[in-house]
Amino acid sequence: MAAIKTIAIVGATGNMGSAIAKSLSKSKNYRLLLMSNEQEKLVDLKTEIEKTAYHQEVFAVSCAKEASWESDIIIIATPYEHEQEVADKIREVATGKIVISISNPLNSSYNDLVTSSDTSAAEELQRLLPTSKVVKTFNTTFAANFKTATIDGKTADAFIAGNNGDAVETVAEIVRTVGFNPIIAGDLTVSRTLERMQLMLIQLAVKSNYNWLAGWKILHN
Ligand SMILES: NC(=O)c1ccc[n+]([C@@H]2O[C@H](COP(=O)([O-])OP(=O)(O)OC[C@H]3O[C@@H](n4cnc5c(N)ncnc54)[C@H](OP(=O)(O)O)[C@@H]3O)[C@@H](O)[C@H]2O)c1
Repeated sequence: MAAIKTIAIVGATGNMGSAIAKSLSKSKNYRLLLMSNEQEKLVDLKTEIEKTAYHQEVFAVSCAKEASWESDIIIIATPYEHEQEVADKIREVATGKIVISISNPLNSSYNDLVTSSDTSAAEELQRLLPTSKVVKTFNTTFAANFKTATIDGKTADAFIAGNNGDAVETVAEIVRTVGFNPIIAGDLTVSRTLERMQLMLIQLAVKSNYNWLAGWKILHN
């Protein structure tokens, strides 16, 4: 049996943080440390998870550094503009650890990214956390998809990008656990494409009223 891994979710009470936490809490392979600025919301989330999860190794932590210190893997589920602040808090305790970047660095009009075309949110996070293994995933899956990753009868894909092969495999297992089909897309620079793919899907979702139950699937024989 695989060793249990501890995952810290920073920003756990948000749309994505709570969706990822609820999905992961159904697996016995992970112990979860949920971190948020809002203690009341965090306690409500923990209570909700404890009522429904098969496995209850879920803890509420009020400090990002403490949660990251005690974890093997850190998921940063805050908006892009808060990532520098989080990175500054966790840098010294995130050395050697996998840090998952889920962000889409959208501008306020949702019609472009705030990052330039020669970088990505994931690469900027790697720059802020030079001794961590940053891996991109879950930026192309909407929070609403986590209840069921089946869309139009097919399991939605979740793309993964990263520079460290072992870290990417570990993240692929997390992706599989929450129900998506992992697709290892390439090294961390591929995040530039993944973040722009989701910008396009968000624009299409707004125009075509997809109710956020949209996702990506590569069809092939
Ligand atoms: N929503 C989606 O469907 C979706 C899909 C793919 C990727 N993403 C990405 O996922 C990330 C989160 O999006 P979201 O929609 O979940 O946002 P959200 O609902 O606004 O949640 C953000 C969370 O981050 C917390 N937070 C903000 N600053 C923080 C800090 N400095 N330290 C700790 N926690 C902090 C917030 O807590 P407070 O409220 O207490 O500030 C909140 O719990 C974004 O980067 C987004 O691009 C979102």
